[in-house]
Amino acid sequence: MSGIKILGTGSYLPEKVLTNFDLIEMGLDTSDEWIYQRTGIKERRVAEPDKVTSDLGYEASVRALEMAGLSPKDIDLIIVATITPDTCCPSAANWLQAKLDALQAVTFDVTAACSGFVFGLNIAEQYIKTGASERVLVVASEVMSRTLNWKDRSTCILWGDGAGAAVLSMGDDSHELLSTHLHTDGSRGQDLLLPGGGSKTTPISHESVDKGLHYLNMIGANFSFKVAVRHFIESIREAARHNDIDVEDIDWFIPHQANVRMFQFIAEALKIPFEKFYLTLERYGNISSASCAISLDEAIRDNSIKPDDLICIPVFGGGLTWGSALIRW
Ligand code: COA
Repeated sequence: MSGIKILGTGSYLPEKVLTNFDLIEMGLDTSDEWIYQRTGIKERRVAEPDKVTSDLGYEASVRALEMAGLSPKDIDLIIVATITPDTCCPSAANWLQAKLDALQAVTFDVTAACSGFVFGLNIAEQYIKTGASERVLVVASEVMSRTLNWKDRSTCILWGDGAGAAVLSMGDDSHELLSTHLHTDGSRGQDLLLPGGGSKTTPISHESVDKGLHYLNMIGANFSFKVAVRHFIESIREAARHNDIDVEDIDWFIPHQANVRMFQFIAEALKIPFEKFYLTLERYGNISSASCAISLDEAIRDNSIKPDDLICIPVFGGGLTWGSALIRW
């Protein structure tokens, strides 16, 4: 037991819906059937051109704070998990802090790709446990649509935009964050890469743009599928082992929403009913760090999650990064 409580959650999805049929209309050589069968995705959301990551994060934060019954002034740490920050410097968390008018808080970003929300929860847990912070806002926000090559049918079909948030503090009665576990493997950084924009390719040049270095790159998507399945399974088992429970005791799995086929494999491998997976990827696609945060919020708000339910959030992403959070609601 950590003694850390989730006081509130929130999420935000841009209004603009981009269906598989819209992608075909945009000239992509694909079909709704191919995308749906291989990924489970029917549509995704795309942020308005004038909206940035901190704007989406702002909307999710306001909703999480409202559920928590707190104001931005009550927060002393803001962590934003993102791989699509508004700017390289300052952090998306800084821009968000200004929009929330929460200048008393300390703010920083976390780069852990699709695992970012659980990395944020883990950091919040440490800050609260040590007494360094009292109330922490963890936000996962992504505008993936700006990183995509819309002519690359093997990647652009997968991703979407959105944000999720959670407010954490000390507490013991319910909604408890029981544990978090994190892992990384930097030797596999090439597998899922956004190569442009860092010190390797700055200043941005015509050449780097022509080479497509500013697009999200997934080398060996098939391979990444298998590695992801393995790490999701390890992460779920690790969470259960650490909390001295059986995997079948877990009521809900709210994973990083990568691909529905992955969760079919995982359900079979772990002998758990597929219905225990709470999935939003049919409607939203893969929103990197924000996927599981948004899904958690939706599962809470539509009353799928009941008091005392055990919720496991297994995550996997570029880096490589993976891990889990276990919550007793
Ligand atoms: N529409 C139609 N055909 C497509 C297509 C699309 N959108 N994308 C790829 N294809 C084609 C390929 O060109 C290939 O054609 P070929 O056999 O003539 O060369 C064929 O479909 C099979 O491609 P492949 O890449 O082997 O398909 P796949 O079954 O592996 O599915 C993914 C591709 C991306 C859907 C799948 O690998 C996947 O979801 N991977 C997981 C990636 C992921 O989520 N990682 C974790 C991120 S956090």
